Amino acid sequence: MAKPAHIAIIMDGNGRWAKARGLPRSAGHKAGVETLRKVVRNAGEFEIPWLTLYAFSSENWSRPHQEVNDLLGLLKLFIRRDLAELHRSGVRVRVIGERSSLASDIRALLEEAEALTRENRSMTLVIAFNYGGRDEITRAVGRIAELVAAGRVDAGAVTEELIASHLDTDGIPDPDLIIRTSGEQRLSNFLLWQAAYSEFIFLPCYWPDFSGADLKAAIDSYASRERRFGGVVASTVAS
Ligand code: FPP
Repeated sequence: MAKPAHIAIIMDGNGRWAKARGLPRSAGHKAGVETLRKVVRNAGEFEIPWLTLYAFSSENWSRPHQEVNDLLGLLKLFIRRDLAELHRSGVRVRVIGERSSLASDIRALLEEAEALTRENRSMTLVIAFNYGGRDEITRAVGRIAELVAAGRVDAGAVTEELIASHLDTDGIPDPDLIIRTSGEQRLSNFLLWQAAYSEFIFLPCYWPDFSGADLKAAIDSYASRERRFGGVVASTVAS
């Protein structure tokens, strides 16, 4: 099979990486951002056109106040420091997740990143921030319900395409491959709708230890898989 066009990554294990080294969790997140930077570059080198990274979930607000602040600070720093280079490399930035409840400085930064890079085409980096799959679907259903109530959409005309077009990922292809580090084997509310036919790779390493070689191995492993999307493989159908 061909290369995945869209890889999505659940970057897990920063805390455990830090703990194993006797460091504070914040050091794990900092190391995680370094890995994130490298992986964006690697994905460009491997000519992966879509890369989605789960940076902060809608459930992450329940972490200790200091840790939430650290993560928000790292996001701001990442955009301030890396936006120019991403732009120079032709990377388009898209952000998915609930935005209206975010602090105005963060919202402004996310909007700036999207606006500056809107026309870039070498690769799209999708940052899932304050993102939860159930929240995304709930918001989409709410907007469709409003359209139905206003008589602008017939209830019988609600299709999968209509729902998909009201998700944050409108215009973004479904992920072909989802990678999760740190040994956990679950989706944790990530891309629930979009992952319907994704392939999964779970790796034991913690996110800060994830390397370009791991990404290459995942791409190669994907290439050997057979996706049927609920159908059958042509060669196995009796004539
Ligand atoms: C999981 O580690 C990681 C996250 C909470 C999100 C990933 C965050 C980064 C890579 C840093 C932030 C970067 C940006 C640009 C916002 P964990 O804390 O759940 O690790 P644990 O399961 O070992 O405790």
